Amino acid sequence: MVRVTEAAAVAASRLIGRGDEKAADHAAVEAMRKALNELELDGTVVIGEGERDEAPMLYIGEKVGAAQGTGPGIDIALDPLEGTTITAKAGPNALAVLAIAEKGCLLNAPDVYMEKLAIGPGYPEDTISLDRTPSENVRSIARAKGVEPSEIIACVLDRPRHAGLIQELRMLGCGIMLIPDGDVAGVIAVTDPDTTIDVYMGQGGAPEGVLAAAALRCVGGQFQGRLVFRNDDERARAARWGVEDLDRIYDLEDLAKGDVIFAATGVTDGSLLDGVKRRKNMISTESVVMRASTGTVRWVRGEHRNEPGIF
Ligand code: FBP
Repeated sequence: MVRVTEAAAVAASRLIGRGDEKAADHAAVEAMRKALNELELDGTVVIGEGERDEAPMLYIGEKVGAAQGTGPGIDIALDPLEGTTITAKAGPNALAVLAIAEKGCLLNAPDVYMEKLAIGPGYPEDTISLDRTPSENVRSIARAKGVEPSEIIACVLDRPRHAGLIQELRMLGCGIMLIPDGDVAGVIAVTDPDTTIDVYMGQGGAPEGVLAAAALRCVGGQFQGRLVFRNDDERARAARWGVEDLDRIYDLEDLAKGDVIFAATGVTDGSLLDGVKRRKNMISTESVVMRASTGTVRWVRGEHRNEPGIF
């Protein structure tokens, strides 16, 4: 899995800071697809680059892997370049991301927004709920942590749609880390005390929600997600995906159950991983791979010298 995310990250790294989001994404997609097709598995993309008519590669439903019909049947959620704009602008926290699980274990989320709420491990069950207001959630987290609400740090995507949320958090005196993009890293950041982020709040992509949930299944923490539909087209999309209850709140197990494995390689430097460094005759990468059934987290530093598939 790390070879797959490394290949995507290295391919995208050539486009860091080049102002071309599409080219960076395309490079990552192509490299990830090639690497996936070298694995001995019978894989199906369930979270991918979009529906077949909008994504030529790694579309939802695409079969990947070199053992179709014979190898283990695996569902795959992927984002070859999470943070296309970040990469184009050489900003922080762009990642190549992959999660796999047995068939049927990853939610087939439509490409709509998802309201997300996440905290790290160690809190009592039900500390957070999307049925409560942001203020109620902050007070509940603060109570559980033994601090004042004004000491809570929230991570929120910097978007006009979050103006109300930001205002409510400001009224409580919370610290807000506004991120330009990249809410997979934003959600995972709540699990790392070094980031000092207590809670992730706000709307981002639903596919990214499933990927972040896969990571939290491995390292612990609480997560809730609710799909957000802005129009009839998005509601129809949800129906095609078999979503019946449009207001349903999904928890970690609803999004990613069973023995999920999550892997990511940093494209640009970030809170989770260092980015790809292109040096003379050598490219270095940093990756993480984690497994839900054991809770094992492995950090993998790669030095790539003329490795086929990478160069
Ligand atoms: P891309 O890599 O597809 O550009 O996604 C980046 C991202 O910031 C995600 O992390 C996030 O979930 C989503 O976009 C938010 O969407 P929007 O930019 O429409 O607010």
